[in-house]
Amino acid sequence: MSIAVIGAGNWGRNLVRTLAELGALSHVVEASAERRADLAAKYPGVIFLDSHEPLLDEPAVTAVAIATPVPTHHALARAFLEADRDVFVEKPITLTTHEAEDLTALAEQRGRILMAGHLLLYQPAVAKVAALIADGAIGRPFTYHLERLKLGRARSVEDVLWSFGVHDIAVLLHLVGETPAQVVRTGHSGLNAGIDDDAYLHLTFPSGVQAHLHNSWLWPIDRRGLTVIGSDGMIVYDEKAQTLTLHRKRIHPATLESADAGEEIVFQGAPQPLELEMRHFLDCIATRQSPLSDGRSAVEVIRVLERAAVGRSQP
Ligand SMILES: NC(=O)c1ccc[n+]([C@@H]2O[C@H](COP(=O)([O-])OP(=O)(O)OC[C@H]3O[C@@H](n4cnc5c(N)ncnc54)[C@H](O)[C@@H]3O)[C@@H](O)[C@H]2O)c1
Repeated sequence: MSIAVIGAGNWGRNLVRTLAELGALSHVVEASAERRADLAAKYPGVIFLDSHEPLLDEPAVTAVAIATPVPTHHALARAFLEADRDVFVEKPITLTTHEAEDLTALAEQRGRILMAGHLLLYQPAVAKVAALIADGAIGRPFTYHLERLKLGRARSVEDVLWSFGVHDIAVLLHLVGETPAQVVRTGHSGLNAGIDDDAYLHLTFPSGVQAHLHNSWLWPIDRRGLTVIGSDGMIVYDEKAQTLTLHRKRIHPATLESADAGEEIVFQGAPQPLELEMRHFLDCIATRQSPLSDGRSAVEVIRVLERAAVGRSQP
């Protein structure tokens, strides 16, 4: 398989490394000469370019993985879909629902694979959370609590919800399987007017399930994870420790008495799902199956982010 990575910056270089390890990397397009030179020394068999345009006429390249800054995603992905290539786009797939819908419709029209970089959907622990809930391990889920906090990379176009929260929203929509009826957001922009560094999102789903997200790139401690509270138990996924703990704890609704039957680590996962994500992209290219994080699911994620933006804090 012959895949080109477009944009080999802080994150794109991870795609370069992973696709090279999988033997699927043929080209890298990177605007910065310095970054091209640095990577060219590490990947001698790969062709490095400063523009994506020659690739549109290069039939050997059948798929691309785009990891450029978000404002460029739509135009680049559109160009490659129109040229009948399969396309992986880093998160967030676009900056508007309209653009995400446009790419999804184009991919479907042309029979191309369109996959969004919702990395955490490829984390085996997330699949295990879904299986535990489906098996009734915690009874009826009441609330989901998601955190993604660290002293991270502050961005100047997308805020922390679009940069970090996009991962949590993708996981949440996957686990709940519903479209939220209500989206309420609060946030704070201390560094850059109008760009929240710290944001809380509260979602209510039609079934009554609620979810609460907290995202910050201006936080002293690196904390990432998910807690699900159910009628008969609770799940805690610590993304850093990669432990998934089932707490057999509940409060009886009639007596309001609590019951604690202990806790058990039920899964210890692999810390880096990027290889699984890229393998999934390669499988989808080979089998023509729709990715787990396909265009339609990405549209739903962007729709939630867009709805949340209405309530953004003003500087
Ligand atoms: N999946 C994840 O966990 C994860 C983590 C971090 C970033 N990301 C995503 O990856 C994308 C890139 O983020 P980043 O932090 O690597 O940004 P970055 O600024 O470090 O890298 C972007 C690179 O793209 C290059 N570039 C810009 N326009 C280009 C073009 N038209 N053609 C070729 N190269 C071009 C730049 O020179 C730069 O090297 C974003 O969508 C971001 O949200 C994903």
